[in-house]
Amino acid sequence: MTPSTTATTPADMSTPDGDATRRPAVAPDPPLPARMRAAGREVYGSVDVVGTLDRPRPEPGPDEVLVRVAAAGVDRGAWHLMAGLPHLVRLAGYGVRRPKEPVLGADLAGRVEAVGRDVTRFRPGDRVHGIGRGTFAEYVTTAEDRLAPTPEGLSDVEAAAVPISGITALQGLREVGGLQPGQHLLVVGASGGVGSFAVQVGKALGAEVTGVCSTPKVDAVRALGADHVVDHRTSEITDAGVRYDVILDIGGNRSLSHLRRALADDGTLVIVGGEGGGRVLGGVDRQARALLLSPFVGPRLRTFIAGEDGARLADLDAMVDAGQVTPLVDRTFPLEEAAAAIAHLEAGRACGKVVLTT
Ligand SMILES: NC(=O)c1ccc[n+]([C@@H]2O[C@H](COP(=O)([O-])OP(=O)(O)OC[C@H]3O[C@@H](n4cnc5c(N)ncnc54)[C@H](OP(=O)(O)O)[C@@H]3O)[C@@H](O)[C@H]2O)c1
Repeated sequence: MTPSTTATTPADMSTPDGDATRRPAVAPDPPLPARMRAAGREVYGSVDVVGTLDRPRPEPGPDEVLVRVAAAGVDRGAWHLMAGLPHLVRLAGYGVRRPKEPVLGADLAGRVEAVGRDVTRFRPGDRVHGIGRGTFAEYVTTAEDRLAPTPEGLSDVEAAAVPISGITALQGLREVGGLQPGQHLLVVGASGGVGSFAVQVGKALGAEVTGVCSTPKVDAVRALGADHVVDHRTSEITDAGVRYDVILDIGGNRSLSHLRRALADDGTLVIVGGEGGGRVLGGVDRQARALLLSPFVGPRLRTFIAGEDGARLADLDAMVDAGQVTPLVDRTFPLEEAAAAIAHLEAGRACGKVVLTT
């Protein structure tokens, strides 16, 4: 669908004598550009393969929304798709030898530019955030059910930090972990993209929250609302002798036996991810072992893949509106510096989210 560029003259602008020839001129909207700037790579590799791309602007299909991207969140997924590692991701439809989609990025925030004929929830001009494919770009198309209206109190940069990390935290705690008010939650990886949301969502769900992070990020995790902080450089999660009702394991790749020692007998371990697994499986084997072991042990051992849907994002936005959740943005980079942004995240320097601006 091509967006309308026909400007109509509002009735209240006609002259008293109705002479249309004397109506003030209304400039038509400029046509959308045929091409756009984007950031990505044509081959799998290190950050050296990431650069600025000149790409055709996408056109929305019948149920799609064309968004003018103002900001795009950077997460670990961008690194994995850049590198094609673990190899398992290539088999998940992203291209075995070369990436099928050159443009990186999955989180977006911006303004609706045009909508397909079957789209009912959004109109041109609406501020939205959500999930798409190839969001490190000036424009992206995505299905309307992967978007939500941007909360009024958030800037585009903050809104772009929310979708995948925030949904992962909410789904992991509420649906997979079944976290209840008054329970004790341990967030391993509390200073990262997912963890900075998990600490706040855990508090919003009424839990007592302990966050695990490295020394330089202890104050930030406390400021997110964590009741207790474990510095993993000086202590272990078992040191305090607490048995947690829910453990959300986002970073560090601890063994299942180690995590279970900190888990209540009827508790739930939710494995979100963890970097540093092997090149082929990337730690998915630990998640598979957890699922296989779960029926034979007391605590529940679970894992999941985050849903990329606007409904869960809207639930999270309600927490934002209520002042319970505020995105923690570590740093922004311009689109042209996407490689530096991914390198910053990969080096473990970020506290909270990294965001690209277009
Ligand atoms: N299941 C899903 O659908 C899903 C969705 C999103 C992400 N993920 C995965 O979840 C993982 C984290 O994603 P993210 O975006 O939050 O990454 P991130 O922003 O890079 O955060 C990683 C976190 O891991 C922490 N960490 C590193 N070593 C640690 C250790 N030894 N002990 C405890 N924490 C440690 C870091 O904290 P310090 O720097 O303070 O040590 C940091 O807070 C990735 O593997 C990602 O692929 C999975």
